[in-house]
Amino acid sequence: MVKEIQEVLPFMSYGGDYNPEQWSEDVWLEDARLMKNAGVNLVSVGIFSWAVLERQEDEFDFGWLDKVMDILHQHGVGVCLATATASTPAWFTKKYPDSVAVDEKGVPYSFGSRQHYSPSSPSYRKGISKLVRKLAERYQNHPALKMWHVNNEYGCHLSECYSEHSLRAFHDWLKEKYKNIEGLNEGWGTNFWSQRYNNWEEIDFPANQVTFYNPGQMLDYKRFMNDKIFELYKIEKAILREITPDIPIFTNFMYQFKPLNYFEWAKEMDLVTWDSYPDPREGIPVSHAFHHDLMRSLKKGQPFFLMEQVSSHVNWRDINLTKKPGVMRLWSYSTIAKSGDGIMFFQWRQGRAGAEKFHGAMIPHSNREDSRVYKEVSQLGNELKKLDSLVGTKIDAKVAIVFDWENWWAVELEGKPHNDLDYLSRVETYYNALYALNIAVDFVQPKDDLSSYEIVIAPMLYIIDEAEAANFETFVKDGGTLVISFFSGIADKNDRIHLGGYPALLRNLLGLYVDEFVPYEHGKEQLFRSNNDTYSCSMWTDMIRLESAEAIACYDSDWIKDTPAVTEHTYGDGKAYYVGTEPESRWVKEFVSQLSANKAVVPPLTVPVNVEVTKRSGNSGEHLIFINHNENDSEIKLGEGNSYTNLLTNEVISQNFSLKGNDVAVLLLSTN
Ligand code: GAL
Repeated sequence: MVKEIQEVLPFMSYGGDYNPEQWSEDVWLEDARLMKNAGVNLVSVGIFSWAVLERQEDEFDFGWLDKVMDILHQHGVGVCLATATASTPAWFTKKYPDSVAVDEKGVPYSFGSRQHYSPSSPSYRKGISKLVRKLAERYQNHPALKMWHVNNEYGCHLSECYSEHSLRAFHDWLKEKYKNIEGLNEGWGTNFWSQRYNNWEEIDFPANQVTFYNPGQMLDYKRFMNDKIFELYKIEKAILREITPDIPIFTNFMYQFKPLNYFEWAKEMDLVTWDSYPDPREGIPVSHAFHHDLMRSLKKGQPFFLMEQVSSHVNWRDINLTKKPGVMRLWSYSTIAKSGDGIMFFQWRQGRAGAEKFHGAMIPHSNREDSRVYKEVSQLGNELKKLDSLVGTKIDAKVAIVFDWENWWAVELEGKPHNDLDYLSRVETYYNALYALNIAVDFVQPKDDLSSYEIVIAPMLYIIDEAEAANFETFVKDGGTLVISFFSGIADKNDRIHLGGYPALLRNLLGLYVDEFVPYEHGKEQLFRSNNDTYSCSMWTDMIRLESAEAIACYDSDWIKDTPAVTEHTYGDGKAYYVGTEPESRWVKEFVSQLSANKAVVPPLTVPVNVEVTKRSGNSGEHLIFINHNENDSEIKLGEGNSYTNLLTNEVISQNFSLKGNDVAVLLLSTN
């Protein structure tokens, strides 16, 4: 049986991607010494090593990797061994041209960069199966092997393929889904624009078409590509599990990554990991905190790993700002605060050649132990050794935000009343308010069991089915507070309208119907009145007609004046709110704060502005983690009665303390 992550790595994991094949052997020993010195205890090896592991078909060379694994083990560094399938070698590409993905215009990609493989290519699938088996057989008993790092950032550069193989696979996928062609015609609504099909072979990709694409076809293509890429992961996983049944397996996810439904993927992962590269321009990286919470939620609260971050600066923005002193540490703790149990970097040693040679690393080109970056890296690595008790501890959230990948795909397809309704921003409207209030939040899917939450917020849930609507009804009937925002409940899973007045399936629950959509131009704002104050809103108005709901806020401008902007409906023991517009953030914060107060949902502690505080609890005790994003010191009031130990300084703290600007504290509650 697969081991628990905390059993394999019972400490905060720290390290990064390690590419020894780019360096000569004498550097490997120096690397291991410097790693030990920096508190590194885990590295990912071999992510892009296929070409040096299998130099020609069936000519395997594991000698160098044997040495690297031994050296790392001797220095107390564990290995996430990569399966090396992230990029096929030149010989493979030439020998198996069908392994190469094809673009929308039908042009195959050329070799020379990375990730050019086609997800549906039989030869790619055969090639990876052989390589992964060899690797697993060779290293199954190596003591350095801690976890399997499958491939790398699936779909990052290429998440669509238009090859012949992919088209055949698409037909098979559609046959499996619809069983007969009439089912597909019905699902895609093909009586529109004479789009009917008589058989599967008539179906092309949604590519290179003259004007608007068929939304049903687009959605199914997105589902299909997600499934094809996911199959690649599952092929590798099955081999690894067969040969090393107890070793955890994962791949690394990405930021705001739309093509892959990570909720589905997470079911096949033993550990969720992701790569986070906030732009220092953004200030406090709230959108990355959002992703930390999302990643933790993918496996229902299980701690995740940050698999890649950068010590200083990336090289792929126009101008690559560097993290100022202390910022890398601060943001690493933001990850830990959200339940990160591993802090890893891309990459260990800054590359000498290739497209990423100006990308920051844990060891810069100067190779000096007194460089700022290496000093900060070592300070953090050695400090994390004090945090073993945090490993495996969890966050108990009473608020959930609904996040649904298929909805993301559907709501952003073309041809909508407003074509700038990006889903993530609508979700961020609510997330940011909760973040600022330090209220813990999970992300859930519309069908998930919601019974452990007091408040559920579903922003712009455009596609919905009967079971999901019933799930929300049960949640509210049983006493929950539900918030749904505009342009929700509109279409089914094929993007066909639910008739009978929007949001048809949710009408009963919300006690209203929406008669008309009123999108606004960019920059246009309307006003609404709420709680004796006036607020602005933008983007959109749903013309709400009340049935059994009450208006709790009404517009105060233009021809929509006095019509409902926000409604409340008592349903069973709970309340369902509908927000028919995009309100300014001040109102959203006040609104969620009021709802939380009504449900006695509170932050772990009230702290000054721009201080993050979270609570992580488990068998090892209750921890409070503070992150001061201010330049200035902040006074933290712990309240009476409890005593804590600051794990980073060993100080005992029982009442108030001052947290320095850009500093962090991890307090463990004393139990006596
Ligand atoms: C990631 C990728 C790494 C490296 C890094 C640079 O997307 O997984 O291999 O390219 O970006 O920021």
